[in-house]
Amino acid sequence: MILMRKPTERISHSTRLGLELLSHRLGRGRRWTSPLPRWTMGCRGDSLRTRTGAVMNKHTPESYNHAYECTPDLFGVEPAQILTDHWRRLEPARPVLDLGCGQGRNSFFLARNGFAIDAMDLSSVALDVVSSVAAKERLEITTHLCDFQSFEPDSTPYSGILIFGLIQILTWDSISTLLKRLDEWTAPGPLGSLVFVSAFTTGDKSHDHCRRDWTANGRNSFMGPSGDIRTFLEPDEILDLFTTYEVLHRWEGLGPEHRHGDGPPERHELVEAVFQRC
Ligand SMILES: C[S@@+](CC[C@H](N)C(=O)[O-])C[C@H]1O[C@@H](n2cnc3c(N)ncnc32)[C@H](O)[C@@H]1O
Repeated sequence: MILMRKPTERISHSTRLGLELLSHRLGRGRRWTSPLPRWTMGCRGDSLRTRTGAVMNKHTPESYNHAYECTPDLFGVEPAQILTDHWRRLEPARPVLDLGCGQGRNSFFLARNGFAIDAMDLSSVALDVVSSVAAKERLEITTHLCDFQSFEPDSTPYSGILIFGLIQILTWDSISTLLKRLDEWTAPGPLGSLVFVSAFTTGDKSHDHCRRDWTANGRNSFMGPSGDIRTFLEPDEILDLFTTYEVLHRWEGLGPEHRHGDGPPERHELVEAVFQRC
């Protein structure tokens, strides 16, 4: 069903709060700056390696800003397959929250199909892209520059929440906070909210590398030398995280080959699932 919606291009209250928070962290009156000049850091010449491994592994707003500045469509343009397979189950009258939306591939897909979207990310560069596409196509997407831990939605429950590629870069403490937030932002019932999720599993190649070279930080969770996190779920473990949800779809295995920009081909051992709050 395609719903007619008013075009929006606005910076939400939470975006402003997020900007204020960032500005506070960086020191009053300072603009957002990267350690090296914007648009140039690592984008030149032979810096390809930093476009993929090194940069991608350091999960700070700066590192994601940098990666997104260097690479348009870092995670591709196509929406996640489980979203295109299951989006029709979403209740169209309520908005969808895209947590860690990146450059917006999944938000765009749902907004083009008539949904109102709250697109949230720590990266201002990613959200600039999302806002500009939304304005150009007159999509109803509101961007929120903030950490999901401090996000305060204008209106809940959401029809659905997208969590693609986020769990593997969170500590267990953050994952536990995320699950509590999901309970606050979703509703049970016959039209219960859906949660779409993907995460890395312990079969992933990078699990061996992290176990060997990084510092253990919890069960199957590791911290790298720059403070970046990788957390891997054991087979079936996703079900223990979503015990108050019905499983509409779950798949675990080796995901498709893909590239980040012009980086090397990659494949990951993944779990993908669609849950419905019950
Ligand atoms: C691997 S990317 C996935 C992007 C997008 N979901 C996709 O599938 O194309 C993870 C995203 O989560 C964002 N992120 C990381 N930690 C976050 C947090 N605590 N709150 C909100 N966003 C976060 C990053 O800035 C990054 O854009």
